[in-house]
Order: sequence, then structure tokens, then C-alpha cells
Amino acid sequence: MNRPTFDFVVAANRLPVDRAEGADGQLHWKRSPGGLVTAMDSVMRGRNGAWVGWPGDPGEPPEPFEDGGMHLHPVGLTEDEVEEYYEGFSNDTLWPIYHDVIVPATFHRRWWHVYKRINERFAQACAEVASPGAVVWVHDYQLQLVPALLRRLRPDVRIGWFNHIPFPPVELFAQLPWRGMIIDGLLGADFLGFQRTADAGNFLRAARQIGGLTTKGDLVTTNGPEAEQRQVRASAVPISIDYVALDELARRPEVQERARQIRESFGDPKLLLLGVDRLDYTKGIRHRLKAYEELLDDGQIAPPDVALIQVAVPSRERVEAYRTLRGEIESTVGRINGDHSTVEASAIQYLHQSFERAEMAAMFQAADVMLVTPLRDGMNLVAKEYVTCRHDLDGALVLSEFTGAAYELTSAYMHNPHDIQGLKNTIIRAIHSEPAERRRRMRSLRRRVRDNDVQRWAQRFLDALEAAPRRAADEEEGRRDD
Ligand code: F6P
Repeated sequence: MNRPTFDFVVAANRLPVDRAEGADGQLHWKRSPGGLVTAMDSVMRGRNGAWVGWPGDPGEPPEPFEDGGMHLHPVGLTEDEVEEYYEGFSNDTLWPIYHDVIVPATFHRRWWHVYKRINERFAQACAEVASPGAVVWVHDYQLQLVPALLRRLRPDVRIGWFNHIPFPPVELFAQLPWRGMIIDGLLGADFLGFQRTADAGNFLRAARQIGGLTTKGDLVTTNGPEAEQRQVRASAVPISIDYVALDELARRPEVQERARQIRESFGDPKLLLLGVDRLDYTKGIRHRLKAYEELLDDGQIAPPDVALIQVAVPSRERVEAYRTLRGEIESTVGRINGDHSTVEASAIQYLHQSFERAEMAAMFQAADVMLVTPLRDGMNLVAKEYVTCRHDLDGALVLSEFTGAAYELTSAYMHNPHDIQGLKNTIIRAIHSEPAERRRRMRSLRRRVRDNDVQRWAQRFLDALEAAPRRAADEEEGRRDD
């Protein structure tokens, strides 16, 4: 049987939907977690493209199927592959190295071999679904070898890769025993997109120092006989969210009513603080709780006037560092509630679960102060979602300077989460800000997200991919023809 092929193909570790077992024991599909899916889902709509990805649980992959106007092409992983490629190499080797080694990275040669094998499987799947001359957009650190593997299989396609997380400084990247092969893998692309100019700079430096390659501006020239040499551009294209859709959702009367109910359920506190994160050590949740606890200990704030909602979306629960973190956070929450809650009012409402978008929009509207305190984060779309939901121009965003978002959302209340006293001061400043100042800041934050939304991001990425040079020799020829 001839499989359909597509002019536009996305490859990401996960499909936009996860296979899940319902309470009735039936298998069904639910939207998968994370910023990548939220962003790409809206980019894919109406494009008649294909999405290559893992369906989120181990086992035989289902047959390709259509969903939400997309062709979904599942790539299967066995139980062992989930452990070694996803939990192991992706999330216990690369993730810590790419996030400033907040926890130590684990190196296993076996994990690397499985990572390579899975990248080959993804490249093969892309090669099968891509039409002649198609655009293939590869995503994130789990698939860094796909660009070169795919180029070998399908030299006719245009290949872009976007990194949703930071790209580490060369001193950290150099720790990876497989660093040279990762650079070679990425350089199979025509264009490499990063969240910040600093991330692109880190990659270019790694290409020079580790790959021994020549760079000029944001162009890297690959190795090989001159006729084979290609030029690859590496630059920043910061990701965003679907501003129009979320703004529209947040304005719905039922969402606003729900925001009112949420506040009421807390006894209408004078001040509601909110944190929303995947339960990940990069998010600085421990630092945030420490600052909050000290503010309560100091008597600067106290329930029932103040409450904190902390949503911690379950993530990578079989990786040791995530389990340890969960234990630490839950015991801290228990201690804070034990010490500071009253019979009627909890100091923290801790929710280890994920919520529908409408419920999130209501929480964002209910919160006076949004705490976004990562120690390192590629972008942090939660910060952008919060301001998008504040058409009332109220609310204050407390934002870590170690997020990609901090480079755009410069009107936020900025802080260094390692500096607990500084974080406490910033929270107090946000709490006591004048309404006029909050409005001024929020107006500017919203404008920033509105003008740089996810559609603009996708367009900028695809334009850069389209404009990227092909081979150094073609470039030369092009220049001679001018
Ligand atoms: O952006 C990093 C990332 O791995 C994304 O690929 C994904 O959207 C998110 O974090 C969630 O991670 P996971 O797929 O491991 O649950």
C-alpha cells in the first residue's frame, strides 16, 4: 500500500497526543504535556502536514492516523528504549548538561547507542512521509542526530531544527563524550534555530572549538571536500504562544466566572500568588517555596490574607532526580502548611496534576502575582500565558532572569532565584506595586507577546529555513551570477 506523503513534516519526540487508558479501561488519545506541543499544535493547524513522534507509552506503535487536520505518524519505543533513550540519554544526560548541571548528568555508553538507534528510527520515518523537496522541521534535544541522518536518506528535503531548551556553554557541552557526533548530527540541517542569541552563540563556539569548523557571523561551514561543503546558519528565533486564541479563551464569561470562584474558594484572600510548572528541578520551585516560607516566617504575609497555589504537573516520574525533587517539594509544602495554615485557610494549595486550558486561564486571572522562578529555562511559556490572560491589565509577573522569556518580557519584576533575599524583595515589591504601575507593565508585556506570537515565530523560522544557504559551492555560484 502506498503511504501518503507531505510537503510539511514535523518531527518531535512526542506526538501532540498521548495514548492513555481511560477509567473504563478503553484506550483513547489525550493532548500530551509541555510547551512544544502547545506551540506546534497551533502552527500545524490548516497546513495539511504530518507529525512524526512517539505516542507516549511503550509498545507497538499504532498505524498512522489523522487527528485535528494532521497526519500523525507514530514511532514506537519499547520499554527498554523508553528507559534508555527518553528517561536516560535525553533526560538524565542531555537535560542536566543543557540546564547548567543543576543536578549531575549521568553518562552511559549504552544509552548513547540507544539514542542513536532511535534517532535513526525517526529519520527513517521522516524519510517515509516527506514528499520530494519537502520541508522537515525537527524539534529539540531528543532528536539532535536526525538532521544528518535524514540528509543521508533524503538529500532533496529542506531540514530545520529548533532547540526548545538552552544550548549549553561549551565548557559544559564539552563534558559529553559524544559531543563531536552531536555537532555533526545537527549540522545536517540547513537552519538551526535557538531561543536566545546566547544559545546560538554557544553552539557556534562549540562548532569551532569542538568541531574544528570555521564560522563567520551566524554561518558554520561544514567539513568535507570543497564541493561537498555546506553552510549552516544558527540563530535565535524565540518561541511564543497562540496569543489570539488564549486571549479569546480568557475573555469568555465562564472563564472569568471560574476565576471569581477560585478566589472565593480561598475565602477571597487579599493576595493570591500562583506557580505553574512541570515538576522539574530547572523550575526553581524549591527556591520559590523557600522565599515564600521566609516571608511567612518573617510575618510579612500571612493566611488568610495570602495564599499560594502551586500547580506541579507530573513529569518524568521514573527519573531519580525528579523523584527526589518531588519528595523534597512535598515535604516542604507539608511543613509550610503545618506551620502557617489556619483552620480555615491553607498557606499553600499544592496540586500535583495537570489542568485543562480553560481552568489554567481562570487560575491566571485569579492570581495577583505569578511566580516564575526557573534556575534555567529555554523560554518559559507559562510567563507568556499569564500576561496573555490579563486583559484586565492587573496582576504582576515575577520573572527569573535565567529564562529565555526574560529577554523579551523586560517589564516583568525581574529577579535572580538563587538570591533568596532578592527574590523575597521582588515578591514584596510586586505585591505592593501601585495599580498604575502594574497596568503600565502589563500593557507592555501583553504588547510584546501579541506582536511576537507563535505564528510569527513559525513564520520567522520557516523564512530563515527557506533563505538558508544550501552548499558553500552553490552560494559561490549564486554570488557569481549576481
Ligand atoms: O521543551 C522541552 C521538553 O522536553 C519538550 O520537548 C516538552 O514539551 C516538555 O519538555 C515536556 O517534556 P516531556 O516530553 O519529557 O514530558
